[in-house]
Amino acid sequence: MPLETSIVTAARAPEDAPLLAVPFGADLAPPVELPVPAAALLAHYEAKGEAGEIVEVPVARGETVGRVLLYGAGDGSPDALRKAGAALARRARGRDEISVVVPAGAVEGSLAAFAEGALLASYTFRIGETPAASRPVGTIRLVAGGAAGAEAGGDPGTVEAVEEEVARGRAVAGAVALARDLANTPSSVKTPAWLAERAAEQGVATRIWDEEELRAAGFGGILAVGQGSVNPPRLIQLSYEPEGGRADGHVVLVGKGITYDTGGLSLKPTEGMKFMKTDMAGGAVVIAVLGALAALGARVRVTGLVAAAENSFSGTAQRPSDVITQYGGRTVEVLNTDAEGRLVLADAMAYADAELDPDVMVDIATLTGAIGIALGKGLGAVFASDDELAARLVEAGEASGERLWRMPLVEDYVPALESSVADLANIEAGSTYGAGSITAALFLREFTGKRPWAHLDIAGVGRSTADEGLLSKGATGFGVRLLLEWLSGR
Ligand code: BES
Ligand code: MN
Ligand code: ZN
Repeated sequence: MPLETSIVTAARAPEDAPLLAVPFGADLAPPVELPVPAAALLAHYEAKGEAGEIVEVPVARGETVGRVLLYGAGDGSPDALRKAGAALARRARGRDEISVVVPAGAVEGSLAAFAEGALLASYTFRIGETPAASRPVGTIRLVAGGAAGAEAGGDPGTVEAVEEEVARGRAVAGAVALARDLANTPSSVKTPAWLAERAAEQGVATRIWDEEELRAAGFGGILAVGQGSVNPPRLIQLSYEPEGGRADGHVVLVGKGITYDTGGLSLKPTEGMKFMKTDMAGGAVVIAVLGALAALGARVRVTGLVAAAENSFSGTAQRPSDVITQYGGRTVEVLNTDAEGRLVLADAMAYADAELDPDVMVDIATLTGAIGIALGKGLGAVFASDDELAARLVEAGEASGERLWRMPLVEDYVPALESSVADLANIEAGSTYGAGSITAALFLREFTGKRPWAHLDIAGVGRSTADEGLLSKGATGFGVRLLLEWLSGR
């Protein structure tokens, strides 16, 4: 659901704030009267001031009891404040508002990260009413002038600077929320055509290929994957141009948009299938990123491509052993219809190479279950043909809190994808090589035209099993923050 929590800034905290959060170590001048000195309280709870720690203290508020939350701000870095914001917003769920005194001398970007963390921890997706106790906090009041609002109180410069950062945090969090909403939407609603409609709402130019147009242009991979479904496939293109036409290069982002992945005739068991409504998470990230670039003032030209299809099980579905022709003419023997993501991505990437002349191509996809085994739920994978590009993406991952780990494109494994009847096979026929995530990446590389390219496999990090920190159960929107960081810093 779109983010409901609002963040406002103020020079001082309201005197009767029922819920007031103050960083550990701040100068607690009145009106914050604690029953025991703060230092003694923190020692008692063995709190160290780490980001995410909260010590709750009841305080008198006239006839009633208010609460002060002493919160850890760690080293004051964006990473730390993102965590602190998330922890406070979680603690304030079900309440109308919370006032938060921001740490003095927060470094640049920290308050944007605080807002981002607080808003993302407040994200919910629910069809029908949200129970009152888990409803996100209505308002977060960021107090920029210290606990008492004394020294910097009323300094409009301080409040203005905070507001600027909050605006950035809101734009990023809003984009993540959109990506989560798209991925959390049930596949009974989320057809390829529906996804194309959502893309067209992002305030950038779009071009949509329907089934007939896909056929006329030779998008054989997208068509083959989609042919088993009553919901026909689409290719979605979104174009962002920086204001004034002064673009620093052209980036193409390609997202896997499988609106449901049954596996096709290589059918998945129920246990694996029930999560596959989020198999368009990469495509959702591309749509959300394209929609947020203007608000962040990105100076690079970006084209987004989402290859959208439903991988269904039916009498019209493609068969293991079918040979398809990808965009551009390369033939592929489909040995396993569950390795469908690479078939739709290959079409979009070959098209980008032939028609869009990108300086850099980055694809993002819930591509292989194996990557979740290798890296778990906390790290995304980056494969890259270019060291500089890989380094920039890893850096953006660190800065945004969406961490990436570089994986190798092992040349010795290239023969795994040889076919006796076509140019390539979509999976290894035998089991000589293994490494399913690496061979999937090597398959994609065939369609990059040797341009600088990176592939993000987010199958492990695309979904969360718990409401924790910045994440809520279901889609994570992983990739939005890191790509926006990379593209807006370029
Ligand atoms: N969408 C899946 C990958 C996936 C698995 C995403 C688990 C999220 C969680 C993909 O299309 C797929 O089915 N991959 C197969 C590849 C295999 C057939 C070579 C897989 O990972 O098992
Ligand atoms: Mn699959
Ligand atoms: Zn899939």
